[in-house]
Amino acid sequence: MTRLEVSDLKAYYFTSRGVVKAVDGVTFRASESIGIAGESGSGKSTLGLSIMRMLQPPGRVVSGSIVLDGMDILAMSEHEFNTRVRWKRVSMVFQAAMNALDPVYRVEEQMEELLRYHAYGAGDARELMSSAVRQVGLDEGVLRRYPHELSGGMKQRVVIAMALLLRPSLLIADEPTTALDVLVQAQIINMLKGLKDAGLMLMLITHDLSIIAEIADRIGIMYAGQMVEFGSTDQVYREPKHPYTQALLASIPRMKGEKRLTYIKGSPIDLLNIPRGCRFYARCPYAMDVCRDDPPAVDVGDGYVRCWLYAKH
Ligand SMILES: Nc1ncnc2c1ncn2[C@@H]1O[C@H](COP(=O)(O)OP(=O)(O)OP(=O)(O)O)[C@@H](O)[C@H]1O
Ligand SMILES: [Mg+2]
Repeated sequence: MTRLEVSDLKAYYFTSRGVVKAVDGVTFRASESIGIAGESGSGKSTLGLSIMRMLQPPGRVVSGSIVLDGMDILAMSEHEFNTRVRWKRVSMVFQAAMNALDPVYRVEEQMEELLRYHAYGAGDARELMSSAVRQVGLDEGVLRRYPHELSGGMKQRVVIAMALLLRPSLLIADEPTTALDVLVQAQIINMLKGLKDAGLMLMLITHDLSIIAEIADRIGIMYAGQMVEFGSTDQVYREPKHPYTQALLASIPRMKGEKRLTYIKGSPIDLLNIPRGCRFYARCPYAMDVCRDDPPAVDVGDGYVRCWLYAKH
């Protein structure tokens, strides 16, 4: 069975300036760990929050479906989702979560709040907390500490442990290494890799493609609210199809110390005012007349690319 299946998902923000189509028809399915990449504002966090059903107003899932382990999660009542799925089957490390730890509570107090909410008794709670912190490579002493007593790397491990408390099978991690220095980043990546090897399905959201290469089996590239390419990490890195994916990969520094050589010219489109046709049109070196029409999703290998270059027309 496919673990996670997202079909034509649309999640919009209804603002006073208009409707921001942050996720605008995203489709993919995966059973292994997946990386979601794309530049700032492409809709990555909105996609993650939609799967957690935690999109806040003015954001709202407008249409589409999300099926997780065979359950149609958008069709569930909030009560059912909350008691059976959220934090238990799927959980999320929010973008910048480590900065949102409450400074006046010890780590264990912040964890206990979630456990109490889910009606765990003190004994079970203690066991879940110890096992979660050990899973992220910390010792139990960290439970007694306040956030300000922890290094950045430890704080990041703590927020990952909080997401693992109720033993989910899918963990969405939104930019889990962004605010950390390179050495600590590598440690967190290794730790996440260990969790994956122990059977956790990861959905890793990042603008940094080099991180995904280390962890994810499948990769989805977001551009302006759409997934423009999806496939196995091998396939996409070896032979990127979409011109945007090609440009993104060209902008990764390949060797230590090498500077970013390629920048993607132009700026992304305004999601309040999406033009017809391919959203990458104005920045694409291969733009053709036909690209003024919406590109189809063309099957390639074990995934797809949303681009006219590969369509029979
Ligand atoms: N609360 C909100 N109200 C209105 N628009 C929003 C809101 N949150 C996000 N957006 C818009 O939705 C679009 C997608 O945002 P999202 O945060 O999902 O992008 P992202 O890919 O996660 O970006 P980043 O890499 O910067 O985290 C952006 O245009 C953003 O401005
Ligand atoms: Mg984001």
